[in-house]
Amino acid sequence: MSASKIRTKVGIIGAGPAGLFLSELLHRQGIDSVIIESRTRAEIEGTIRAGVLEQWTVDLMHQLGVGGRMAREGHFHTGITLRFKGQSHHLDMEELTGGKKVTVYPQHEVIKDLVAHRLAQGAVIHFGVQDVALAGIETDRPSVSFAQADGTPAVLDCDFIAGCDGFHGPSRQAIPAGHRREFQKIYPYGWLGILTEAPPSHHELIYARHDRGFALLSMRSPEIQRLYIQCDPKDDIALWPDERIWSELHQRLETVDGWKLTEGPVIQKGIIAMRSFVCETMRHGRLFLAGDAAHIVPPTGAKGLNLAAADVLVLSRALEKFYAKGDASGLDSYAATCLARIWKGERFSWYMTTLLHTDDEASPFEHRIREADLDYVVSSRAAATALAENYVGLPI
Ligand code: FAD
Ligand code: DHB
Repeated sequence: MSASKIRTKVGIIGAGPAGLFLSELLHRQGIDSVIIESRTRAEIEGTIRAGVLEQWTVDLMHQLGVGGRMAREGHFHTGITLRFKGQSHHLDMEELTGGKKVTVYPQHEVIKDLVAHRLAQGAVIHFGVQDVALAGIETDRPSVSFAQADGTPAVLDCDFIAGCDGFHGPSRQAIPAGHRREFQKIYPYGWLGILTEAPPSHHELIYARHDRGFALLSMRSPEIQRLYIQCDPKDDIALWPDERIWSELHQRLETVDGWKLTEGPVIQKGIIAMRSFVCETMRHGRLFLAGDAAHIVPPTGAKGLNLAAADVLVLSRALEKFYAKGDASGLDSYAATCLARIWKGERFSWYMTTLLHTDDEASPFEHRIREADLDYVVSSRAAATALAENYVGLPI
């Protein structure tokens, strides 16, 4: 069977936040793109992941005309609570950052809004593709071959490929290993996350450090809470019946007099491992990596989705310059521009993770240093401001 040929300017692999934001940004600049995605639309719209959007990501959603539902259904948070040693400390992000907030609006809702908007504009998104392979990335006519959902082969010929296919996708692997500069840290902890049908027990997020391990209280709607506890990343979820999860949550979160965690039926649960990873080779020839394809952060601090959106904002500006003026300087500086901010996101996520998790491998000295660090954050305006400005999102 001969492959059907598709021609576009930018071939985008992956319909996660990076791929969808990029396609939307390019469309506004009159640059056509085609997205190929290995999962079905229902799968990408149903996967429970991130929850917290930085202020500028929220602003971007509005600029792109996809912020309406978020404005109605999102939760706007002006602060967070840090809880440790039996005390709660409120960090007023808005006051510390001169008016910035974060918004709790689930990643899969962002995905739904972007997919609906893109399709309404006539965008081409091939869902359920298989056997994706990149070719010619060192030439100026790269292509992506794949099998469409019905099995028919297709080839996407393009000027540029945007590898937005997450940590496990094929794009990063298409860069010869000898050219890739990679950095990694694996953490000895994982997160067990649940969704529960119970109204939020608190009006803002609570990040708790406890001798039994970290716990996080977040939310999705006035009826649904999102909760996480630190666990062994190798644990089987079968080892965690609901009663055990609730017992840990109560012990780690109910450390303040009179504060009670509301329980409800658990409607979803899962365990994720945690790593920090950066592939500094974000460009190789005509291939550009963006989002989780190039970098991963542990979830503490909620940076992953926001870093993905920042990459594609930089990439879209570089492509606009290229197509409008034949100026490739933005493409040449793409990796360096992104990496300056990515490494700060990596640092912050590593810092929040180290600060708040219980590490059996850490020495008693290191435990005391972490406690001192937390005490410092809640007792020094300068330290609190440093945390707050990273949490709400550094400038792009
Ligand atoms: P992805 O979302 O992984 O999208 C990649 C897409 O590519 C996927 O749809 C995948 O199916 C597709 N793909 C893969 N292989 C192929 C292929 N061969 N062909 C075609 N398509 C392919 N981040 C935050 O900012 N805030 C948070 O609060 C937050 N909380 C999190 C909580 C959890 C539990 C987890 C797991 C993550 C969290 N993150 C958070 C991180 C965030 O979810 C990711 O950083 C974000 O999804 C990255 O977007 P992306 O588009 O780069 O990659
Ligand atoms: C959520 C996830 C995070 O990683 C975080 O730091 C805060 C909230 C969430 O899923 O709601």
